[in-house]
Amino acid sequence: MIMSTTSLRKDHELIEKVIKAMQSTIQLLNDKKQIPEFILLPVIDFSKNFTDVCHHTKEEKSLFPALEQAGLPTNMGPIAMMLMDHQRSREIGNEMEKSAKDYLSSGNSEKLITDMQLYVDHITEHLWKENNKLFMMAEARLQHVSKKVDEELSGIEKSQLNELGKSRQHYEELAENLTNDVSNQGN
Ligand SMILES: [Fe+2]
Ligand SMILES: [Fe+2]
Repeated sequence: MIMSTTSLRKDHELIEKVIKAMQSTIQLLNDKKQIPEFILLPVIDFSKNFTDVCHHTKEEKSLFPALEQAGLPTNMGPIAMMLMDHQRSREIGNEMEKSAKDYLSSGNSEKLITDMQLYVDHITEHLWKENNKLFMMAEARLQHVSKKVDEELSGIEKSQLNELGKSRQHYEELAENLTNDVSNQGN
């Protein structure tokens, strides 16, 4: 059955896969292993473009307005909290991008470890809140418009990824390759 959150929950699974690879990367950095560019650059690409530009925009331009129409306020309560979380993830993401670039040129991993851990913890908590609170609310309140919301979400995804010159398949492959590359680094 198509729900108003089907597409977003699918995104969350992909994001969780990358978060898992990031947690393993942090472990490797803590163990003083060197992490190559071909792991860090995809992490940054995914966090900035898939999670922020694509996924957060889908929520902000479709799910949240639909919930607002269903009577949920956007200036306080769970939606306001989610918007603040998105803003914060952008800030931590920017810091993490800087520290990844510094790490690649200097080899100093301290700030990268801190920023990546902050990012992982923040996103993990955010996904939990959405999966277990906001999305449950949406599924109950938006039953009558679930197909419309789902179509809107696909449309926004396509246009956001198009603008980036990327595809959903690119990010699915990125997550898969990253998982494999990180686990190979540990050997
Ligand atoms: Fe979100
Ligand atoms: Fe989300």
